[in-house]
Amino acid sequence: MTLMAWNDAFSVGVPSIDKEHQRLIGLLNALYDAVQSNQAKEKLGQVLDGLIAYTATHFKTEERYFAQTHYPDAERHSREHEELTRQVLEVQRRFKAGETATLSMEVMNFLKRWLVNHIQGSDRKYAPHLQSKGIK
Ligand SMILES: [Fe+2]
Ligand SMILES: [Fe+2]
Repeated sequence: MTLMAWNDAFSVGVPSIDKEHQRLIGLLNALYDAVQSNQAKEKLGQVLDGLIAYTATHFKTEERYFAQTHYPDAERHSREHEELTRQVLEVQRRFKAGETATLSMEVMNFLKRWLVNHIQGSDRKYAPHLQSKGIK
């Protein structure tokens, strides 16, 4: 079972970004699968680490495009990235330090909601700008 499936409503019209978003969704689903199949805490931690690491990579890609193309809303957008990074690192810290051997559905839904809202909100807003600068 998957937590969320890619569909065209997630497309921001920049193929390299869509590819990264697809991979992010894939990693989130992998985390969900690991939770659902009661994987050991250590394994779960590794999958969570992988999702967090790739999120950082993805944010860097977007911010590199913003810098390259002088995207006017870069600062506000980057602050949203920082905020999510802070929140997921807190999830990771609590999971690793805590008693629980699993991640709650609440955490999974938080990650899903954030990804959907950010992609369909802020990420979509940069599409016309990046496209006009020839970013593919
Ligand atoms: Fe994004
Ligand atoms: Fe973004």
